[in-house]
Amino acid sequence: MKAVVWQGVNRLAVEEVDDPRLLDDQDAVLRVLATATCGSDLHLVDGYIPTMREGDILGHEFLGEVVETGPAVERLSVGDRVVVCSIIACGRCWHCRQGRFSLCDDSNPNPALGETLWGQACAGIFGYSHLTGGFAGSHADYVRVPFADHGCFPVPDGLADDAAVYCSDAVPTGWMGADNADIEPGDVVAVWGAGGVGQMAARAAQLMGAERVVVIDRFPERFAMVEDVIGAETLDYTAVDVHEALLEITAGRGPDRCIEAVGMEAHDTGLEHAYDRAKQALRLHTERAAPLRQAIRACRKGGTVSVLGVYGGLVDKFPLGAAMNKGLTLRLGQQHGQRYIPMLLERMAAGEIPTAHLTTHPLPLDQAPQGYDLFKHKRDGCVRAVFHP
Ligand SMILES: NC(=O)c1ccc[n+]([C@@H]2O[C@H](COP(=O)([O-])OP(=O)(O)OC[C@H]3O[C@@H](n4cnc5c(N)ncnc54)[C@H](O)[C@@H]3O)[C@@H](O)[C@H]2O)c1
Ligand SMILES: [Zn+2]
Ligand SMILES: [Zn+2]
Repeated sequence: MKAVVWQGVNRLAVEEVDDPRLLDDQDAVLRVLATATCGSDLHLVDGYIPTMREGDILGHEFLGEVVETGPAVERLSVGDRVVVCSIIACGRCWHCRQGRFSLCDDSNPNPALGETLWGQACAGIFGYSHLTGGFAGSHADYVRVPFADHGCFPVPDGLADDAAVYCSDAVPTGWMGADNADIEPGDVVAVWGAGGVGQMAARAAQLMGAERVVVIDRFPERFAMVEDVIGAETLDYTAVDVHEALLEITAGRGPDRCIEAVGMEAHDTGLEHAYDRAKQALRLHTERAAPLRQAIRACRKGGTVSVLGVYGGLVDKFPLGAAMNKGLTLRLGQQHGQRYIPMLLERMAAGEIPTAHLTTHPLPLDQAPQGYDLFKHKRDGCVRAVFHP
């Protein structure tokens, strides 16, 4: 089969590789129908998440058709069209039983790496380095899905592939960001990042009763989506002082809930950004975290900062004093998609969560390297490239 493989920092290729096969009774093999680029993939392509190896297959946001199931798979049949959670979870361990699927103890076969870096390992993730299990990703003709009964969700007929695919990752991630933020009716919510994840977090915040949702970014095409499709407000961080603007909107109090949906490769203007870039290039720290710092400083006293952006290691100039003295609640994590996906598919089918607009660049799998180039540089209004094997 064909697959998109990592060949080193900023080098991707479409190669012929072996077809996946069932390795465990609980596995399924899927024919991939659609697989999207996610901001998380950029952190791999750009070399900021360690433990990638040449030949690793990328991709974790996908939907497919079941072509083979292991003998212990009970809820799926060959021919089912399913969306698959980007996070792999066993569904039975202590963490899974509490709905914290991205903390699964049994789905990551390489826990030693995570234990060394972080104290404990996180769950397995498709196509996301050897730290998260070294699983082959979904940018391929076929993919093996471990714990298939717990990760695959049948897609309602009315939802097209290129809209449903986001229920794998961007939609549940955005929902979790808003859920973790403890949004109450009437809240003002600020969201950093107008990518697929930030837009879905903004929509979730609205559905949870936020009175005003303000999304911060710099790309006009993304702002047009936020305003016209999501119906939220926008702030351009290259044109205004974000902190001042957020205080002005909230009569000096600061947003009640702040959601960070940018991650470790944040862009910014000014000296602090130059400092972050230089330290990251020298590997003196691993994260460029301007939006995280901004969120903690702007958030109202006693508010919540919910972090969706991916971080891998150590961040410098973390405003711990602000977080402590303002009594903030910080929530973070990889998404617990298995907990939300059935409810979200229903909402998507009912038209409550628009996603089709995120697919700005549908492409054949062969053109994945070009798709990544567009996505990485946000060229031609690219929000997500979606590959069709
Ligand atoms: N927690 C999870 O489970 C999970 C799941 C999916 C994605 N993610 C992470 O979410 C983040 C966003 O993903 P995406 O797919 O939307 O990515 P994306 O690259 O499409 O969007 C990121 C956006 O952030 C904006 N940005 C950069 N610097 C900024 C700044 N200083 N202020 C405001 N906006 C800024 C960019 O302009 C861009 O529009 C990534 O870090 C990704 O790894 C996390
Ligand atoms: Zn992702
Ligand atoms: Zn588990």
